Amino acid sequence: MRIVVTGGAGFIGSHVADALIAAGHHVLVLDDLSTGRRSNVPEQATFVQGDIRAAATVARVFSDFKPEVVTHQAAQTSVSVSTREPLRDAEINILGSLNVLQECVKQKVQKVVFASTGGAIYGDVPDGQRAREDWLPNPLSPYACSKFSVEKYLHAYNKEHGLPSTVLRYANVYGPRQDPHGEAGVVAIFAERILRGEPIQINARKEVGDDGCVRDYVYVGDVVRANLMAILGKLAQSPVNVCTGEATTTLHLARMMERVTGKQAIINHGARREGDVERSVLDPGSPSPLGAATALASGIEQTIAWFKTRAHA
Ligand SMILES: NC(=O)c1ccc[n+]([C@@H]2O[C@H](COP(=O)([O-])OP(=O)(O)OC[C@H]3O[C@@H](n4cnc5c(N)ncnc54)[C@H](O)[C@@H]3O)[C@@H](O)[C@H]2O)c1
Repeated sequence: MRIVVTGGAGFIGSHVADALIAAGHHVLVLDDLSTGRRSNVPEQATFVQGDIRAAATVARVFSDFKPEVVTHQAAQTSVSVSTREPLRDAEINILGSLNVLQECVKQKVQKVVFASTGGAIYGDVPDGQRAREDWLPNPLSPYACSKFSVEKYLHAYNKEHGLPSTVLRYANVYGPRQDPHGEAGVVAIFAERILRGEPIQINARKEVGDDGCVRDYVYVGDVVRANLMAILGKLAQSPVNVCTGEATTTLHLARMMERVTGKQAIINHGARREGDVERSVLDPGSPSPLGAATALASGIEQTIAWFKTRAHA
């Protein structure tokens, strides 16, 4: 198939592009390299450096390449940037996405897969509970609002234009290639700092010195599998939580990374970060439509192995 991966130079998009190439598809990556890297894009993919906010660029890419499927990963991905610059967030995440959807309709694309956020869309998930797809979303940041808007637009485009789509609500994704210099991605930040012997910081969930926020960490390989299943029409439901269902505190994560690296971390405790959701854990379904998720220990091992090779290189 001919598949456009927007954001395919980024962390998740590049893994999706790799897997699609390996499965024999023709892939075009559209990415403005604002946070992504050219070196992440697989050699066999066609690469266009362009901004999804530029309607003419998106139109040209779609009319030249004529995709059958689009997996839309490009986004402004930072919750705190969205709080500081809600208009920029909306321009990229809502208007940019609409440029993509308009072209999907024009080119009669057979399927759009959308990278939404389970980590942000449900808001705070009460202790002992896991957010299910049928929960009413409770977006608490402009980023969560923009992602939820696009989910709604996709629904409307399906009704209005018959455009088929699958919404994937990712939990907190980690794995090789995640950027430790961004502000998201605690696993990448901890991996780099622990390997260098630098201190790490646990931001409080409530009080300084507690175990930190609770998250559902999902390995990027599982996110790739979800994308492939959606692209191949193997997922009947939408939206779908892409998660493990496991509740992990930041301190537990740090301890696991100490075990895997064999290094003791120097741990500092910081205050609660404003805007941080305290607890986010998603329900994968029983049985999960995506199959078994990678265990945290195994995903962390693969991630640390990658960060070690990168440090050597
Ligand atoms: N990483 C997570 O934990 C997580 C969780 C939930 C949802 N998501 C979503 O998954 C997708 C991929 O996230 P990621 O973690 O790989 O982030 P990333 O920053 O590595 O990837 C985003 C990519 O989009 C590109 N991009 C940004 N703005 C663009 C624009 N205007 N035009 C064209 N390209 C643009 C960037 O250059 C980058 O390559 C995003 O939609 C994000 O919101 C990620």
